Amino acid sequence: MKIAPISEELFQRAQHSIPGGVNSPVRAFRAVGGNPRFMVSAKGAYMFDEDGNRYIELINSWGPMILGHAADIVQEAVQKAIPDSLSFGAPTRKEIEIAELIVDLVPSIEKVRMVNSGTEATMSAIRVARGYTGRNKMIKFEGCYHGHGDSFLIAAGSGAITLGVPDSPGVTQGVAADTLTAPFNDLEAVKTLVEANKNQIAAIILEPVAGNMGLVLPAPGFLQGLRDLCTKEGIVLIFDEVMTGFRLAPGGAQQLYGVTPDMTTLGKIIGGGMPVGAYGGKKEIMDFVAPAGPVYQAGTLSGNPIAMSAGMAMLQYLQSHREVYTNLEQTTSSMVTGMRENMQQLGLNYTINHVGSMFSIFFTEQPVTDFESAKTSDTAQFGRYFNSMLQRGIYLAPSQYESLFVSTAITDDLVQEYLQANREALEEAAR
Ligand SMILES: Cc1ncc(COP(=O)(O)O)c(C=O)c1O
Repeated sequence: MKIAPISEELFQRAQHSIPGGVNSPVRAFRAVGGNPRFMVSAKGAYMFDEDGNRYIELINSWGPMILGHAADIVQEAVQKAIPDSLSFGAPTRKEIEIAELIVDLVPSIEKVRMVNSGTEATMSAIRVARGYTGRNKMIKFEGCYHGHGDSFLIAAGSGAITLGVPDSPGVTQGVAADTLTAPFNDLEAVKTLVEANKNQIAAIILEPVAGNMGLVLPAPGFLQGLRDLCTKEGIVLIFDEVMTGFRLAPGGAQQLYGVTPDMTTLGKIIGGGMPVGAYGGKKEIMDFVAPAGPVYQAGTLSGNPIAMSAGMAMLQYLQSHREVYTNLEQTTSSMVTGMRENMQQLGLNYTINHVGSMFSIFFTEQPVTDFESAKTSDTAQFGRYFNSMLQRGIYLAPSQYESLFVSTAITDDLVQEYLQANREALEEAAR
């Protein structure tokens, strides 16, 4: 039984100086109950909290630690770069090298601009798409998250074919009106929106594999259908691969599913854990970005030398060790198969979605293909399951509506440890 009095005390203290005690909302554990654990270190498959508890990690900093925490190659690259200065605010050779590597790896990217977060990447990509097309509106999908930029914080309202309403105070009605929403995997709804807003849609943005309503896979033909529609209507198709980029394949979900968007947003893994994002795409679109073109986008710390060094080390490793992807798929498959066996033995029949090294268990018996079906999950039961797993030393994402990320540091023994905990926690949560 893991107890965490120091974390509890820190959480009380944090709330005096930090809104809600955390620097990003999901970390507060509000969706699952209990207090967040305050971490001090992590290595490989493990993370250690202030109370000295050890956890097997299945968030991996929400994706980027694909080689496990504090991977030697990344740490060494960072240490080597530090003496040369932490920031120049001037161009460096490393920025060209990482850009060339990204262009090489990601099918849709001919030119790329580095930024500091996934949010910056998506906000910038939308601005560029608007500048390029001269149109204002965009379509996003219910349950897809693209960072906290104003135009992305829009709910579906009463239906897919309505104008957006702000999902957060502070987002103006004016901004919301330019964001249209459709259900994920519903190509017909998108076609209807496009028809009703002829020549007004600048971009369609989506997570090609959605990871922010739990893991939801694209239905066969959905991505290709969007591709065809965008080509026909002169709409910029943007794949937000902040989660899936370099994770599902070296070239991301677009490589895995063989559908090439016009633009791609990236984050997380490029920085190997450092704060990095990027957006890129076709030359003719990216040449709209300043100073090549008129769309302004800038950043004091963009292309930061330490972050670039971490990213280069990570991406070069992934480029030259393609077996990482087969190994991750095998590990994740054995976890998912084991979970299904556990459920069968316990007489439970929840839905598990899985692709590559990402998976989610939904506490519903219904197939989960979009946000509506994801919402049929019993979130109270998920909360009990989460806390049972935490007590058993397994650190999951503290929300039903998140994906889990497996790293190469998860060994066969750890899979068995995970499955034992999973069985006990499923049983406990079902009571
Ligand atoms: C698909 C997707 N896009 C964008 C973002 C925003 O990235 P960041 O948190 O780095 O701003 C996230 C964050 O989780 C994400 O999952």
